[in-house]
Amino acid sequence: MSVRKPSPPSFDDARNRRQKVRSAGLDPNYWYAVEHDHKLGKGEAVEVTFWGESVALWRDENGALHAIEDRCCHRQLRLSQGEVRGCQLVCKYHGWCYDGSGEVVDIPHETFGRKKPALRVRQYPLRVRYGLIWIFFGDPARADGVPMPEIPELEGDDRWACVPVDFTWNAHHSMIIDNVSDFTHAYLHKKYKPFDGASKLTRLVEEDDRVLMSYDTKVGGGKISGMFVDRKAVDTSSMDLGYQYPYQWSNTDNAIKHWCLVLPESEERTRVFFLFYFKSFKVPLTPLKIPRWLMTPFLRISNELLVKPLLAEDGWAVEEEQEGWRRHWDAPIAELNPAVHAMQTLTIRKWEEYLASQQGESRRPRLSAEG
Ligand code: FES
Ligand SMILES: [Fe+2]
Repeated sequence: MSVRKPSPPSFDDARNRRQKVRSAGLDPNYWYAVEHDHKLGKGEAVEVTFWGESVALWRDENGALHAIEDRCCHRQLRLSQGEVRGCQLVCKYHGWCYDGSGEVVDIPHETFGRKKPALRVRQYPLRVRYGLIWIFFGDPARADGVPMPEIPELEGDDRWACVPVDFTWNAHHSMIIDNVSDFTHAYLHKKYKPFDGASKLTRLVEEDDRVLMSYDTKVGGGKISGMFVDRKAVDTSSMDLGYQYPYQWSNTDNAIKHWCLVLPESEERTRVFFLFYFKSFKVPLTPLKIPRWLMTPFLRISNELLVKPLLAEDGWAVEEEQEGWRRHWDAPIAELNPAVHAMQTLTIRKWEEYLASQQGESRRPRLSAEG
């Protein structure tokens, strides 16, 4: 008779680097991509989750976006289940109305002779950039001072074409960061060949909150993708990558780039946004460039035919890895790539720093805004 193994350890109980990294959270004091801007229409609300914390994100009928704690002050229902009316979000149960600052501005039923109580929920800083909505889940006073990823190629009149794609995978965020930065998994992508099986790590630099890597490889060697890459103009023999906490990016000869933006919903679930952007593509079998105006529709098609099926292979792998972690979290570490070691070390250190900062916070007296 088999004895059931206990669940994987918490961060505090973790005994080695693998156990630490697979239970670590991400510091909420960064900007996190949460939704495509175009997906949330006027009058719509959605729930966004960060490490178990639920936020109601909604676009009012004038088009302005708001993010507030996803909890009605009355009986704690999720406000994201309610409806947008004018500039307010209305709880579905008794109709209490919230404005964009999270304040209860109207109670539409009898208050039994009592004055409307001063109640509010938390408001979250929010921005729209690169076609995505971003939320700052940490200390709002720090939001303006924390930089977002700077992607000059995606701004201005002459910006590069980019059609973001996203996935929700049942996997810990660190498995996704490991996956996208570690080319030893070329075997998985036999069909699409985004990089080469003979890839070689040629540079690994750990500095502050970044890990920088380079691989000698063959970028975009697949039959279809290879036809669109102008190998005369772009050096596709190596790729630079960075884990720029909490984001990940790559750069091939300043012509093919991507950012991978993870949103850790829980220890076992991560939403991930990919921004791939390209300086140019050529028309297959000719030296001609695809004109800039045609790039966006072209990318939409290539997302469906190439990018999504390719990344679905990664999704399958990280979900399998999550399942392997759940079953065999106490197996010995067998990681060979030093880049993975470096990225995991950074994730653990940042989470330890965040937890230590919170211990200082929790000693300070907390003021309740709810009176
Ligand atoms: S629970 Fe939201 S109005 Fe009552
Ligand atoms: Fe991959």
